[in-house]
Amino acid sequence: MIILELNDVHYTHHNKYNTVKAVDGVSVKFKKGKIYAIAGKSGSGKSTLLSLLAGLDVPDSGQVLYKGKSTAEMDLNEYRKSGAAVIYQDFKLFPLLTVLENIMYPMELCRIKESEAKKQAEELALKVGLSEPLFRRFPSMISGGEQQRVGIARALTMSRKLLIADEPTGNLDSETGNKIIDILIRLAHEEDCCVIIATHDTAIMEKTDKTYYITDGRITRS
Ligand SMILES: Nc1ncnc2c1ncn2[C@@H]1O[C@H](COP(=O)(O)OP(=O)(O)OP(=O)(O)O)[C@@H](O)[C@H]1O
Ligand SMILES: [Mg+2]
Repeated sequence: MIILELNDVHYTHHNKYNTVKAVDGVSVKFKKGKIYAIAGKSGSGKSTLLSLLAGLDVPDSGQVLYKGKSTAEMDLNEYRKSGAAVIYQDFKLFPLLTVLENIMYPMELCRIKESEAKKQAEELALKVGLSEPLFRRFPSMISGGEQQRVGIARALTMSRKLLIADEPTGNLDSETGNKIIDILIRLAHEEDCCVIIATHDTAIMEKTDKTYYITDGRITRS
């Protein structure tokens, strides 16, 4: 079943100094229960494409359809809360919340009971390889790879059906990275989630069900 679909999507970054056409006519379909890689060189448009899929932005033209409905017509706060879970390339942890509080945050937004949220957060933290002494530290007191795993655990809460991950193993050693990829593969194949990962790691591409290659904002092959 198709959960997410892009129809001729275009997006240009504008700022005071320049204009960059980052996504240039992309059409792709993503199914539930499958894991995908979006591959391409640095600056090819992977993060921009993912931010459109995640509803952090809407296309200039074309459509991003989640379960057949355009993200341009949706309440994007609601979409991010109950639709797409996101693992960010730069983590985006809350600096004034502890490791455990960061992981609990989406559950808090959805008014899940604190004791239940804490239990789930602890389980997920251990699952991604964060040990108990880290739970009460703030993000600035842990390593980059540990911060990345906090972002991963936070995205795994609430068992949503769409997970968008921007270079989720970029700061991890290969053993920890493999463990994370295996968790994401299991999520797709055993829990019927659609997982989309931006990466330049060929070892990850080999493990996914399908890889789309992007060059200068265009899908060049799959
Ligand atoms: N906020 C912005 N303002 C202007 N240009 C931007 C902005 N963000 C990205 N770009 C440009 O858009 C293009 C695509 O960037 P994007 O971040 O999507 O690439 P990427 O494939 O994720 O790269 P990387 O592998 O380095 O993360 C690049 O040319 C980049 O310089
Ligand atoms: Mg990127």
